[in-house]
Amino acid sequence: MRIDKILANLGYGSRKEVKKLLKDGAVQVNGSPVKDGKEQVNPNEDSISVHGEVIEYKEYIYLMMNKPPGVISATEDVKDQTVIDLLEWEDAVLKPFPVGRLDKDTEGLLLLTNDGQLAHQLLSPKKHVPKTYFAVIEGEVDEEDIHAFAEGVTLDDGYVTKPGILKVLKKGPTSDIELTITEGKFHQVKRMFLTRGKRVIYLKRISMGELKLDETLELGEYRELTDEEVELLRSRQQ
Ligand code: URA
Repeated sequence: MRIDKILANLGYGSRKEVKKLLKDGAVQVNGSPVKDGKEQVNPNEDSISVHGEVIEYKEYIYLMMNKPPGVISATEDVKDQTVIDLLEWEDAVLKPFPVGRLDKDTEGLLLLTNDGQLAHQLLSPKKHVPKTYFAVIEGEVDEEDIHAFAEGVTLDDGYVTKPGILKVLKKGPTSDIELTITEGKFHQVKRMFLTRGKRVIYLKRISMGELKLDETLELGEYRELTDEEVELLRSRQQ
């Protein structure tokens, strides 16, 4: 692969900027300066450094974030901080994007990747990828709610949801619940509870498909998926 293409893919700038980097002697391959952008390099075997810093080349990146509240799950926003703003530069240059959306006030598992095919599979309504949420609900969640969600409820816009599995973890003036749904309609969990006259006061996604939130991640922290986790997600594509 051409060295200028590798550097451009890694976010080292436009063709012109990459050309300048090379011309200035900032790029070394296996310890020797390379000035010609056409030079063929194997990014998986050769050691490439820019300004003396060795770069790790990979085409795809898969990140699991524990999304904090107050941050938008989008790549850009004119007003608010986005999940991309929370990434280190070396991860952001690979241009990952959030797979699906969590509301600004929702916390928890958010997958970020630049693997468009995997993202598409996970988001495709045909794949019915289950997503499980932990929530705190104002009021007492009861058997009738469990039955209603299992049947499907009619949202404010007339849409009838697919069956959801509701588990009540704690009852009282507020209830702790877990809800698993296989769709991702706008504000779906909140709107499902509204059909039952109940309000979600805290919402956190804890799993998506086979991927579970790593509870050691603090809010706003993220880590790369392990190879096993990527394989688990991929196995769903067949
Ligand atoms: N359902 C919601 O209401 N909000 C989310 O962020 C995710 C699911």
